[in-house]
Amino acid sequence: MPKHQIKRLILRWRLARARDLRLMVGAGMSRQIGWISTNINSLNLLDEADWRTIFAEGSIAAILAEHVWEHLRPADGLEAARRCRRYLRPGGHLRIAVPDGLHPDPDYIAAVRPGGSGAGAADHKVLYTYRTLGALLEQAGFTVRPLEYFDAAGSFQSSEWSPADGMVLRSRHFDPRNGGGRLVYTSLIMDGVRP
Ligand SMILES: C[S@@+](CC[C@H](N)C(=O)[O-])C[C@H]1O[C@@H](n2cnc3c(N)ncnc32)[C@H](O)[C@@H]1O
Repeated sequence: MPKHQIKRLILRWRLARARDLRLMVGAGMSRQIGWISTNINSLNLLDEADWRTIFAEGSIAAILAEHVWEHLRPADGLEAARRCRRYLRPGGHLRIAVPDGLHPDPDYIAAVRPGGSGAGAADHKVLYTYRTLGALLEQAGFTVRPLEYFDAAGSFQSSEWSPADGMVLRSRHFDPRNGGGRLVYTSLIMDGVRP
């Protein structure tokens, strides 16, 4: 049996046992207790058949995507957000963290912009700001809850958020590069809540 089919069988088996479904998409090597890690091979954000064969619509409590949406073209990002909304239960949330296009450090922007100098940036398709990501989530039918971002004046804005609802490592408190109070590496982090 091909490796990706075995991965899907394992994923289905784990999902059948989970009561409160919390899903990490595009997880890479990331793991969090209480969350099921998936990747493009087991759950492609852009492949409805992947979702339909594994989940019932309206069944997922939370979806976390850390540094995934910038790898999708904007139209694909909208499609993926709409799909997540459909599979989330009412009140469930999609937590997205992406590089922040309004980060005031020019070196940060040079690293994360599409085709930039940072790791993985050759594959980046878009650099979101709180306005453009917020608009995408609203268009997908979510109520938007901004958690961390730089505003147009370069001021960092944040609300308290719990890692239990989706741990984002590249964030103000959890990225070790921010030791000493300097915000060296942060992300634009937003929840889309399914009404
Ligand atoms: C920069 S890595 C981030 C990995 C991990 N989330 C982290 O925080 O380290 C981007 C991830 O997005 C995944 N990805 C890209 N397109 C995807 C898609 N259409 N569906 C699901 N995952 C996708 C890639 O496979 C990769 O694992």
